[in-house]
Amino acid sequence: MTSTRILAASPVAISEAAEVLSSGRLVAFPTETVYGLGGDARDGRAVAAIYEAKGRPSFNPLIAHVASLAEAWEQGVFDARAEKLGAAFWPGPLTLVVPFAERTGTVHELARAGLPTVALRVPAHPVAQQLLAAFGAPVAAPSANRSGRVSPTSADHVKADLDGRVTLILDGGRTSVGVESTVIACLPDEPVRLLRPGGIARRDIEAVLGEIIANPTDRVQAPGMLAQHYAPDASVRLNATDVEACEAWLGFGPGGPKGEPLAALNLSPSGDLAEAASNLFAYLRALDARKPDGIAVASIPDEGLGEAINDRLRRAAAR
Ligand code: TXA
Ligand code: MG
Repeated sequence: MTSTRILAASPVAISEAAEVLSSGRLVAFPTETVYGLGGDARDGRAVAAIYEAKGRPSFNPLIAHVASLAEAWEQGVFDARAEKLGAAFWPGPLTLVVPFAERTGTVHELARAGLPTVALRVPAHPVAQQLLAAFGAPVAAPSANRSGRVSPTSADHVKADLDGRVTLILDGGRTSVGVESTVIACLPDEPVRLLRPGGIARRDIEAVLGEIIANPTDRVQAPGMLAQHYAPDASVRLNATDVEACEAWLGFGPGGPKGEPLAALNLSPSGDLAEAASNLFAYLRALDARKPDGIAVASIPDEGLGEAINDRLRRAAAR
């Protein structure tokens, strides 16, 4: 493939992107969490091209993005708990794993990695909404990074990872939430389970459900939650208070480390977890570009969005 085009997400560019999807090719587009690498979810060849472009193992299923709750009901079987969550948080940074609707669903088996379930999301970003409305069918989209790498929160990040592997990138600026969607499973005869912490905090979901959410099990889990993921080139050291020579510093809250870092960025000087989440992946990429021996990261409270931030940092630190 020739080099990838980036287009500002104008109405003309969005309708061109919908045509690219209709022809079975791939489009990267912004959502409020991270950029997605989209293809026609009904088309096995387009879905195969997504796995190929990302270098992702095909046992790891993709999220199908749809324009509305009504479209989500066609793809999946929603029990009362799933309906409640969809009504409360869509459009937004929530993904629901529910039984696939065998009679009305159109998401290809390959996008579901052969599972009897389907992961569905109605994104809130206006460009994602307009693209889904123009295309008129589910769009399978993992985060638009090479498998195992840091997720992209800008069009430039996508280009850096996937140049020549995607036909078109719709540029909608920096994403606002910055970490991926929260993945929740609502399956028969199972408690509601949190498969991946993300852009909506556990406690906000529990408040809507009126019950505590359970953790994943061997049987009910997200196949993509490998221990090592979201990895920059530099090694990552957590809960640091000092830096060694040639280490970079990723701070949180007021104050800095003991020692002289090679480079330093602060996720949120005021200690705001939403601000920290939105800066996380861009700052990891920026510090990594300075080629430090390692990245020392300040400790981050494990409450609210901190659960998702710490999850991604632990995976970045695992080697
Ligand atoms: O914010 C997001 O969720 C972004 C944007 C583009 O929507 N997407 C994203 O996709 O992060 P991806 O593919 O990087 O992560 C999807 C996660 C993976 O861990 C995958 O294993 C899990 O969702 N998943 C997908 N389908 C599933 C299913 N049927 N059952 C269990 N887990 C599933
Ligand atoms: Mg991903």
